[in-house]
Amino acid sequence: MSGAREPATLFEAARACLDAAGVDDKIVLTRRHAAAFAAGGLPVPRQAPPPRPIRMPGRPPRPRMVHPRELPRRGLGTGEGRAAFIHAIAHIELNAVDLAWDAAYRFRGMPADYYADWVRIADDEARHFLMLRERLRALGHEYGDFDAHNGLWEMCEKTAHDGMARMALVPRVLEARGLDVTPGMIVKLRAQGDEAMAAVLEVILEEEVSHVAAGSRWFRWHCERAGIEPEPKFRELLADYARAVLHGPFNVDARAAAGFSEEELAALRELS
Ligand SMILES: [Fe+2]
Ligand SMILES: [Fe+2]
Repeated sequence: MSGAREPATLFEAARACLDAAGVDDKIVLTRRHAAAFAAGGLPVPRQAPPPRPIRMPGRPPRPRMVHPRELPRRGLGTGEGRAAFIHAIAHIELNAVDLAWDAAYRFRGMPADYYADWVRIADDEARHFLMLRERLRALGHEYGDFDAHNGLWEMCEKTAHDGMARMALVPRVLEARGLDVTPGMIVKLRAQGDEAMAAVLEVILEEEVSHVAAGSRWFRWHCERAGIEPEPKFRELLADYARAVLHGPFNVDARAAAGFSEEELAALRELS
């Protein structure tokens, strides 16, 4: 990171965060560039060259990436199991930093509010990662100690050509999964007396509603611009891309707060 040129635009800043391989580099750069953007620095150029291809964002040498089937299932009952669980969520948050920067980097010519949303979300995800790493360290572990998988970035790549599909499938399917499963995790952790981790997940859950809501807002924006009805389009995108990753039950209240219509909730139930 030292000696790196300061970015002149938001796109350069987003790319620097995507490319950063060290965990601390990615997190520190994300927080710094998000603060600079919020303070009015890092303009979004109207005429910018197209994004350069990204094969894979920068990643640390560990964790080792494995097929999801190879990840051992552990209960929360042991310290090791709880550490593996926290590690899995920390990994999702670190991926979510890249997903948010990619949304800002890849899609050009969007309204100013679009970029403001995804920069704010990248910063939230960096903060979520730090909160989880602190819990992991309290259990004597470090990020990288357990294996992980690359499913989130894979969906990012599949939707790289189409901002509408990206908004439908990354925030509204993958991120939204957190809304469904987190309340149950909070109950379990609290029952085991892990108040600190339960409190972290409560903060994350609340903030994730706003991330999924941003996905809903920009999915609808794309539909409106293209003159497409959002509900049938959402159903079609789910069927084309997401069947394998749709799992109920769905948290209807949180999803309604995040901009899902009745019709979209019905499509989720039918296709899962
Ligand atoms: Fe998050
Ligand atoms: Fe998120």
